[in-house]
Amino acid sequence: MGICLMKCCCSWLLLISLLCALTNDNEAISPDGEALLSFRSAISSSDGVIGQWRPEDPDPCNWKGVTCDPKSKRVVALSLTHHKLRGPLPTELGKLDQLRLLILHNNDLYDSIPTALGNCTALEEVYLQNNYFTGPIPSEMGNLFGLKNLDISSNDLSGAIPASLGQLKKLTNFNVSNNFLVGKIPSDGLLARFPRESFLGNLKLCGKQIDVVCQDDSGNSTGSGSLTGQGGKTGRLLISASATVGGLLLVALMCFWGCFLYKKLGRVESKSLAIDVSGGASIVMFHGDLPYASKDIIKKLETLNEEHIIGCGGFGTVYKLAMEDGNVFALKRIVKLNEGFDRFFERELEILGSIKHRYLVNLRGYCNSPTSKLLLYDYLPGGSLDEALHQRGEQLDWDTRVNIIIGAAKGLAYLHHDCSPRIIHRDIKSSNILLDGNLEARVSDFGLAKLLEDEETHITTIVAGTFGYLAPEYMQSGRATEKTDVYSFGVLVLEVLSGKLPTDASFIERGYNIVGWLNFLISENRAREIVDTSCEGVERESLDALLSIATKCVSSNPEERPTMHRVVQLLESEVMTPCPSDFYDSGSD
Ligand SMILES: Nc1ncnc2c1ncn2[C@@H]1O[C@H](COP(=O)(O)OP(=O)(O)O)[C@@H](O)[C@H]1O
Ligand SMILES: *[C@@H]1O[C@H](CO)[C@@H](O)[C@H](O)[C@H]1NC(C)=O
Ligand SMILES: *[C@@H]1O[C@H](CO)[C@@H](O)[C@H](O)[C@H]1NC(C)=O
Ligand SMILES: *[C@@H]1O[C@H](CO)[C@@H](O)[C@H](O)[C@H]1NC(C)=O
Ligand SMILES: [Mg+2]
Repeated sequence: MGICLMKCCCSWLLLISLLCALTNDNEAISPDGEALLSFRSAISSSDGVIGQWRPEDPDPCNWKGVTCDPKSKRVVALSLTHHKLRGPLPTELGKLDQLRLLILHNNDLYDSIPTALGNCTALEEVYLQNNYFTGPIPSEMGNLFGLKNLDISSNDLSGAIPASLGQLKKLTNFNVSNNFLVGKIPSDGLLARFPRESFLGNLKLCGKQIDVVCQDDSGNSTGSGSLTGQGGKTGRLLISASATVGGLLLVALMCFWGCFLYKKLGRVESKSLAIDVSGGASIVMFHGDLPYASKDIIKKLETLNEEHIIGCGGFGTVYKLAMEDGNVFALKRIVKLNEGFDRFFERELEILGSIKHRYLVNLRGYCNSPTSKLLLYDYLPGGSLDEALHQRGEQLDWDTRVNIIIGAAKGLAYLHHDCSPRIIHRDIKSSNILLDGNLEARVSDFGLAKLLEDEETHITTIVAGTFGYLAPEYMQSGRATEKTDVYSFGVLVLEVLSGKLPTDASFIERGYNIVGWLNFLISENRAREIVDTSCEGVERESLDALLSIATKCVSSNPEERPTMHRVVQLLESEVMTPCPSDFYDSGSD
């Protein structure tokens, strides 16, 4: 945990100090403005829209999305939809007691709807649909006597619908569909008036509005049910964002997202893994070439705790597992979010486990415990390419970089062309390229994105962590193909050449991401300038060839992108130095 939070905090400190540098004099702002600033700071990323909310303004009345009463200067409307706002709603919003319209639908807001919203007694319309709100609908919303429209559909709200909402006499539109609500729909108030379309797609609601008989009236009808029909948000996060990357806040997106998931999942996480494997865990090993009995491994797993964490990402936490005989593994712990996919999951894992290739990270086996999935991979002592490029002090020289690119290309080409069934990686990025002791690349996490997508309704949250790597058509359609992997690979090449993250601040400031920057440099006929100035040994010819390959890979038209097979051919014929393995003394490590 410490590692992850530190990683996160560093970027945040940086960001915060940047923001502070921009806004150093702090004159008093109106209380409504203060409440909105709390909102701004709760939002960890967006498309940049709230970046222009300036704390030094006397009131928030000219801020984007904010409307004030012209006389009193009190805030009467907050309206920001489709802005990728990501974060919780702060309690301070409860101070906006003149707020009539709260319109924040189609964002990435999460956590519970604050009960303090019940203090905004002027509210007439609340639109929070298509976010990721969890927890119950606050019964305090029953205090909003002026409320006419309430749409909180397509979130992850749970619990019962509070009876207090039945008191809302003015309510004419009401929609709680596509949530995880349970229990009886209150029948004694006005809620009886609303049609079944207001309630559809919930985990287990009952009542005459939806023609479902409640088992009894004591609220005993709750329980776990089928989750089918909850996938309505597929692809929503993917809506194109490439053109309008305006905000500084975007920089933190990648780091943040992993940590958010970590936090979210971490709530059910225990200090050690012992609890995972106590009571009915079973180990399945692939390849059959490892000399351990299930109980050896389980015994070892029980000793793992926070000290052994080596990383965390969108899928969970990674531990280092050293066996007595000197073998070392990386254990990826994925908290189980959903029962019932076990058999599907196992079948897919068998397929992934059967794949073995020099440039892929071996999946050695898995442990299926009641609370989590534990995937056992070979441990790669060189860590991830992401760390090697962006975090470690020492620089990778040119030949090493080229060699890494070639390894990654071969691993990916194997998945695309030599596996049966073919495997689309879906999550190519530098943290999924791991390095062995000789700095040779290995592709990791192949097939995992698909696996977890199918398991969890928040499928795209995982993909969001990969923001800068996504092909434009993927962002629009949410459909992964080999060509979307090729695009991500192209971004990866640019990242390796430039030593900068795809959404590095220096690109964003100019209104680009790394691909936009490349295209700009090409138009100015100075594409070579994309290369990391601190990289030693750059060879012009292979650089030109690499740039030309990368440019094809990141073409916005998928048809124009080469296959990975072709990429490998091009790399070998035009880029490769005669015998790359000669550059390393293979005895080190
Ligand atoms: N097999 C492995 N060997 C060594 N380190 C690993 C291994 N797998 C993962 N890691 C480390 O754990 C981190 C988190 O991995 P992961 O959960 O896949 O998240 P992500 O790929 O999103 O960073 C990686 O960035 C890497 O540093
Ligand atoms: C909401 O109202 C309650 C009761 O009046 C008060 O205790 C609470 O502090 C208020 N919350 C906010 C955020 O204004
Ligand atoms: C509620 O929202 C869902 C989409 O989430 C929509 O299909 C349904 O028609 C809406 N119901 C009403 C009554 O507007
Ligand atoms: C709830 O339902 C279960 C079985 O459906 C039953 O055994 C139990 O007694 C019920 N509890 C109450 C409080 O009615
Ligand atoms: Mg990974």
